[in-house]
Amino acid sequence: LKVAVLKGGPSAEREVSLSSGRECAKALREAGHDVTEIDAGPDLAARLAELRPDVAFNALHGRRGEDGVVQGLLEWLRIPYTHSGVLASALAMDKARTKDIYRAAGLPVVDHVIAARDAVREGHVMDPPYVVKPNNEGSSVGVYLVREASDGPPALADTMPDTVMVEAFVPGRELTTTVMGASDGQPARALGVTDILTDGWYDYDAKYAEGGSRHVCPAEIPADIAALCEAHAIAAHEALGCRGVTRTDFRWDETRGREGLVLLETNTQPGMTPTSLSPEQARHAGLSFSAFCDWMVRDASC
Ligand code: DAL
Ligand code: MG
Repeated sequence: LKVAVLKGGPSAEREVSLSSGRECAKALREAGHDVTEIDAGPDLAARLAELRPDVAFNALHGRRGEDGVVQGLLEWLRIPYTHSGVLASALAMDKARTKDIYRAAGLPVVDHVIAARDAVREGHVMDPPYVVKPNNEGSSVGVYLVREASDGPPALADTMPDTVMVEAFVPGRELTTTVMGASDGQPARALGVTDILTDGWYDYDAKYAEGGSRHVCPAEIPADIAALCEAHAIAAHEALGCRGVTRTDFRWDETRGREGLVLLETNTQPGMTPTSLSPEQARHAGLSFSAFCDWMVRDASC
């Protein structure tokens, strides 16, 4: 197939996307496809209209690439594309709306409030420990952890949005599960559970994105918790109306057993870099990265 890999783009996760795009392009060439890599800029519509690929492989992350915007453009151009469509992408990018959908589907989440940036800077809007994050960015950008009341309120950067999500912090482990949901109505498949271990206490700051973590895949957790992660990840994928590959992130307070598992978010454009979680889970499930990317383009639609 003639495949255009969309990468880069204007979001805060541009560098991650350039890496995802490069890896996916390489893997798709290995699978025998005719691949063009496009750094998604203001001329994206014109370039796609001229190239007319059979499929657009969406390797964008963050705003405009993961939130329904580029998906709308691809629908308009009638170019089949990988991953989720307009509505699911927009919903999953908004963490508060994602949690509304999770709740409606009976999936466990923790309490949060949406608060003005200035109010969060001025005082504790929730009893610590809590986490402050943008409502609509990739999870590694602009996340603050307030451990105890004596820490004082967080000094949010001016680059944070005017309103932010403040969410109760769940102690324990960070788990994640990738789902492959075919568009032909076949049942979605979960690719196991990875445990993300960080040095010392769990740290939400930017170092996390720089790789201060170790992945244990498959996670060394009880079989019933692993099965619950897989069932919840599939339910989240389906409740949001996702398509193709997604990755749902959890926190698990192991002292509370099954009750201690909560969903944080569903990523509709999970990272595909050399150190990313989804390719690793796919490999563990018996799919080479090349076969994983090949499945995505063959499953693309619009
Ligand atoms: N937002 C990054 C790319 C991820 O979820 O993998
Ligand atoms: Mg994310």
